[in-house]
Amino acid sequence: MASVHLPSPAEIEHAATLLRAGKLVAFPTETVYGLGANALDAAAVARIFEAKGRPSTSPVIVHVSDMDMVRRVAAEWPAVAQLLAQKFWPGPLTLVLKKQPAIPALVTAGLNNVGVRMPSHPVARALIEAAGLPIAAPSANRFTQLSPTTAEHVRQGLGDRVDYILDGGPCTVGIESTVLSLAGSIPVLLRPGGISRPQIEAVIGPVTQQTTASAEAHPSPGLHPRHYSPRTKLLLVCDGQVPDSGAGAYLQLRQPPKTKVQEIVRMPPNAAEYAVRLYGVLHQLDARNYDWIAVEVPDNSPEWEAVCDRLQRAAGEAK
Ligand code: TXA
Ligand code: MG
Repeated sequence: MASVHLPSPAEIEHAATLLRAGKLVAFPTETVYGLGANALDAAAVARIFEAKGRPSTSPVIVHVSDMDMVRRVAAEWPAVAQLLAQKFWPGPLTLVLKKQPAIPALVTAGLNNVGVRMPSHPVARALIEAAGLPIAAPSANRFTQLSPTTAEHVRQGLGDRVDYILDGGPCTVGIESTVLSLAGSIPVLLRPGGISRPQIEAVIGPVTQQTTASAEAHPSPGLHPRHYSPRTKLLLVCDGQVPDSGAGAYLQLRQPPKTKVQEIVRMPPNAAEYAVRLYGVLHQLDARNYDWIAVEVPDNSPEWEAVCDRLQRAAGEAK
C-alpha cells in the first residue's frame, strides 16, 4: 500500500486560521471526512448548509479535542456520558446533550440539545486544537450523497464549495459515528455507527432505539430515508439473486451471483472490516455507470446493525 501523506504542521495551522476566519475546511476523521466550520459562528455554519445543499432542519455534530471544549458546548454532563467517554472517546461515538447557549440554533436545528464528538483521528485532533474552537462538521458530501472516506471523494463531491481540504489518507472506520442521545431520561440510539450497540450496552446497559423518521426538525437527519446513496440504483439481494437484465456489479459476502455480472467485489466477512471498505467500493462502482449495484445482505445480527442501516438507506429501503 502507498504510504499515506499527512498534512504538515503548517498546513494544519493554515486550515485552523481559515476556520477562525469563518471559512470551510474539510478534514479527515476516523469515520468519514467532515466539512468543518467554527461551531460558535452562525454565519460560518450557514455556509456548511449551503455547500452541502442540506436543509436547515438537520442538526450538525460539534467536534471537540478536550474536556474543556466539551464544557463550552454541552451544558450538562451526566454520569453515563462520563462512563461512555472514558471508554469510547476519542472515537466514533456522538453524544447528544443539553446545549450551551453559545451554540447557535442553526447548529442544532433549533433543538435544545447538541451532538458532541471527540474524534480520534490525529489530523482532526490537531486541527481542532490549533483552531482552539469547537468545530461543527457533517460528513463532507452533498446532501443525500455518499459520505467521503478519502480526500479525493471530497474533491469530487464538493469541489470549490470548500475553502480547503486536509488530506489524512483513507478513513479507518469507514462509516459515521454512532449517535446516542443522553438528553432525555433514558439513553436512545439515534443512529447506529462506528461503536456497536453491544459495545455501548456492555457499559451502560440496554439502550432503546429511535425508529420513526420524523419530518420536523428531526433529531436524527441520518434517518432521512434516502441518505448515503450512490447515483446508481442499489439493490439488496439474497442467495446471489442478481437482476438478469442490464449491466451491474455484485458485492459478495458468501454466495456467488446466480447469473453473470460485469464485476464482483468480495467483501470482508467481518462487519468492522466491511464498514471500512463500503463507501470506497460504492464510490468506485458508482463511477462505472452500471445499471445497478447488487449487494448481498449481511446477517441481521447486532454487529452488522450499522452496515445494514447504511445499505438500506443507500437502497432507499429504510423504514
Ligand atoms: O462520523 C460522523 O459522525 C461524521 C464525522 C464527520 O464526524 N459526521 C456526520 O455528520 O456523520 P452528519 O451531519 O452527516 O450526521 C449528523 C448526525 C445525525 O444523524 C443526527 O443523528 C446527529 O448527527 N445529530 C447531530 N446533532 C444532533 C442533535 N442536536 N440532536 C440529535 N441528533 C443530532
Ligand atoms: Mg452525512
